[in-house]
Amino acid sequence: MVENFPVFELKNVGLRFGAIASLSGINLRIEAGEKVALVGSSGAGKSTLLSLLNGSLLPSEGEVWVLGRNLGTLRPPVRRHLQRQIGTVYQQFHLVENLRVIHNINAGNLGNWPLWKAAVSLMYPLEVKAASEALNRVGIAEKLFERTDRLSGGQRQRVAIARVLVQNPSVILADEPISSLDPERSLEIMDLLSKITRERGTTLVVSLHAIEFARSHCDRVVGLKGGRVQFDISASDLTDTMIEKLYTTQD
Ligand SMILES: Nc1ncnc2c1ncn2[C@@H]1O[C@H](COP(=O)(O)OP(=O)(O)OP(=O)(O)O)[C@@H](O)[C@H]1O
Ligand SMILES: [Mg+2]
Repeated sequence: MVENFPVFELKNVGLRFGAIASLSGINLRIEAGEKVALVGSSGAGKSTLLSLLNGSLLPSEGEVWVLGRNLGTLRPPVRRHLQRQIGTVYQQFHLVENLRVIHNINAGNLGNWPLWKAAVSLMYPLEVKAASEALNRVGIAEKLFERTDRLSGGQRQRVAIARVLVQNPSVILADEPISSLDPERSLEIMDLLSKITRERGTTLVVSLHAIEFARSHCDRVVGLKGGRVQFDISASDLTDTMIEKLYTTQD
């Protein structure tokens, strides 16, 4: 039987860092295959929300359910197993600059490999075929053995995406994946993220400062303000007034 759980379900979630309420009263349900943008000004809670979705943070209140399981109640090995289905791409790429591209891509799989394999792979590239296929999908197949610090920003972001692809995740989370790229490179990376997620029906949750990409590349836009959901709407229904209200300081 194929279970039809939402990919994410947040029930009245709050998260505090000491006295600061980073998120409060979040109710959010994301179904398989949806492309969701998280928007809102700096400090609104976008990165914190993504950290709750991939289980790197647990809520102070409420429940985070991932693929039908309540993350807060799982034993660590079961939680890690679930977390491997979620690939995260970061703004700063999180790559090891002085390693060759292939090692950075293989790093996406370290969690699935036994320790010996992970250790050996740091010296001798393993799984060359899988890494090379992933790099081919992101359009820079020829860079497999290049040192990562010789790549441009756009190429590095492609490597960061390839590293997530070798995990073969059912969900991709991306935290401002284009904020350090120029407009042309930003469009290429957003096109790439839409293409690879569309091909396999992968769910995408992406935080963005550039509203135009939220509109053009996502089905749904969640606006966060002061740690709360201000709107959760289909991208085609998003109005300029809603955007203005989201970014003004007064409510
Ligand atoms: N580790 C932390 N310790 C203390 N406070 C934190 C921590 N992480 C986030 N916060 C606070 O939580 C709030 C939300 O931060 P978050 O990083 O999620 O915002 P954001 O929407 O991602 O902003 P940006 O667009 O600048 O990346 C902010 O007030 C921030 O200062
Ligand atoms: Mg952030």
